[in-house]
Amino acid sequence: MRLKLNTMKAVRIHSYGGSDVLFYEDAPRPTAGAGEVLVRVHATTVNPFDVAVRAGYLSGYFNHTLPLTLGTDVSGVVEEVGAGVTNFAPGDLVYGRAGVTRDGANADYVSVAASDLAAKPVSVDHIHAAALPHVTLTAWQALYVAAEICEGQTVLIHAAAGGVGHVAVQLAKLRGAKVICTASLNLDFLKDLDVDEAIDYSTHAFEDVATGVDVVLDLVGGDTQQRSWPLLKPGGILISTIQPPSAEMAAAHGVRQHFVTSAPPIGETLAEVTALVDSGQIIPLVSTILPLQEVRRAHDLIEGKHTRGKIALSVVA
Ligand SMILES: NC(=O)c1ccc[n+]([C@@H]2O[C@H](COP(=O)([O-])OP(=O)(O)OC[C@H]3O[C@@H](n4cnc5c(N)ncnc54)[C@H](OP(=O)(O)O)[C@@H]3O)[C@@H](O)[C@H]2O)c1
Repeated sequence: MRLKLNTMKAVRIHSYGGSDVLFYEDAPRPTAGAGEVLVRVHATTVNPFDVAVRAGYLSGYFNHTLPLTLGTDVSGVVEEVGAGVTNFAPGDLVYGRAGVTRDGANADYVSVAASDLAAKPVSVDHIHAAALPHVTLTAWQALYVAAEICEGQTVLIHAAAGGVGHVAVQLAKLRGAKVICTASLNLDFLKDLDVDEAIDYSTHAFEDVATGVDVVLDLVGGDTQQRSWPLLKPGGILISTIQPPSAEMAAAHGVRQHFVTSAPPIGETLAEVTALVDSGQIIPLVSTILPLQEVRRAHDLIEGKHTRGKIALSVVA
């Protein structure tokens, strides 16, 4: 018989600040409430979102209670299910997105709404499954829901070698779009992803190559977003995940704009993603795997802004 402990290890913050406010420590073990699933975490990740929460940049938007366990991505095994959950059972292999307003998945256990989980792809391990939810839901919302990208269109993806970008490239190509991308240190990775044009933004002005595009996916913001408006065809769309695009600029250029603030239905979309991964149509890239205890290093790498694909944290070896 397995002993059920009331505590577990988790990465928590007790205050906002640099990566030194992250502590790998004992924390109360969550339980599965009604409609929830308690997952034994095997792998999780760090996203720029976790860095922003840790630094306190989002404290005006989310009503987080400290201490807070970080981490939105999870892949693991169902430990127990709460009242009313009929689609998962203990022992199932699942992946999903932990709620962004509550304790997250950088921990031994996380409680997640059953509707935010799906069966884990069988063709990849927990590390690679955990790399998918946050970034794939974002790219899906941007390209499939907001842009409704279709065959024959051209999309310009800024920061295509990062977490969201490398999945966005694959989703765009799946719909038959032509894909133009920007990167610098990770330019060779874009060529591996079989993009149509890869532009080194550190040595070339991207507007010299990318003109007349249907969709801009802006994962960078600032000057990169501003310089992208004139590249769109009339009626095209600029979508950003980082900085709300100006409605005035969109009107002035005769195009549309969208800021990604929500996700498509999580469990249902991840079930579709599972099928795409298991048929080899989406391949998650994890460039660095660290033990959960080394979460500070993962945050520092993300803050360096030049990571390739995803940084994953292994919880169960
Ligand atoms: N709104 C939402 O719901 C939502 C959801 C997810 C993410 N986000 C945001 O979206 C952004 C991207 O997320 P992510 O997870 O993909 O980030 P990420 O993985 O940290 O992005 C790293 C990549 O950015 C590239 N990069 C850095 N500066 C660049 C520039 N000036 N031009 C082009 N590429 C550049 C780097 O390529 P090189 O090393 O080759 O330069 C690197 O591969 C973040 O700001 C994140 O907070 C928002």
